[in-house]
Amino acid sequence: MKKILVANWKMNPSSLEEATNLIGEIKEKLAGVKGVDMVVCPPFIFLNEVGALLKGQKKIKLGSQDVFGGEGTSFTGEVSVDMIKNAGAEYAIIGHSERREMYETLQIVSEKIIFSLKGGLKVILCVGEEARDEHGEFYNYVKDELEMALAKLNKKNLSKLIIAYEPTWAIGKKENEILSPENLHEMVIFVRKVLTDKFGEDGRLVPILYGGSVSKNNAQEIISKGNIDGLLVGRESLKPANFAEVAEMLSKN
Ligand code: PGA
Repeated sequence: MKKILVANWKMNPSSLEEATNLIGEIKEKLAGVKGVDMVVCPPFIFLNEVGALLKGQKKIKLGSQDVFGGEGTSFTGEVSVDMIKNAGAEYAIIGHSERREMYETLQIVSEKIIFSLKGGLKVILCVGEEARDEHGEFYNYVKDELEMALAKLNKKNLSKLIIAYEPTWAIGKKENEILSPENLHEMVIFVRKVLTDKFGEDGRLVPILYGGSVSKNNAQEIISKGNIDGLLVGRESLKPANFAEVAEMLSKN
């Protein structure tokens, strides 16, 4: 399976000029990286311009950080699957914990997944526990999230699904405050089992990424010991040279 690297810019940068510069630098720094599928997810307001700057090349794909999960147009402030696709995006991050902390329920997440797939977007679904406990209850938490978010997913759409395992407690932290690669390895096996229990052998087709305070300093260990198919990178993706180092590590493993 080809490794996947997702850049989540979150609510950065604050101007179009900076966004244009950032994608320019990322393109330049990643030009030499081979064998990694890369997806850059800027804020909605920059999707069209970043999409235009990515047109004509195959290395870096465009994604959104969210999507509206329903039909119709009377939804002030929302952004539809068609709008996102017409900006040149192929992917949508869905269910990021920073959105779910605000108000997004798993029911909403499930609807967003269905509408995105129906409209032709590939889905990067984020799951992950809020905290770890001694008794392993957090495994059930992740299982419930997966089962509820994927409740309506048809097996035939599995090839358009990516799971990003992001323990909420490890997002936005220092690079040494994340979970151990051994714990990650176990969780990836668990997520794979939940997927194969639900979808049979086809569940093995779904790439499983890790996200949460990935940096150029901790990425190597996560990649070599974590049993993952790729990474979802937040803050470090805003530093093109560091991001390129992470991409290089993925390409070599
Ligand atoms: P972070 O963000 O790498 O800055 O912790 C990860 C994410 O977007 O979830």
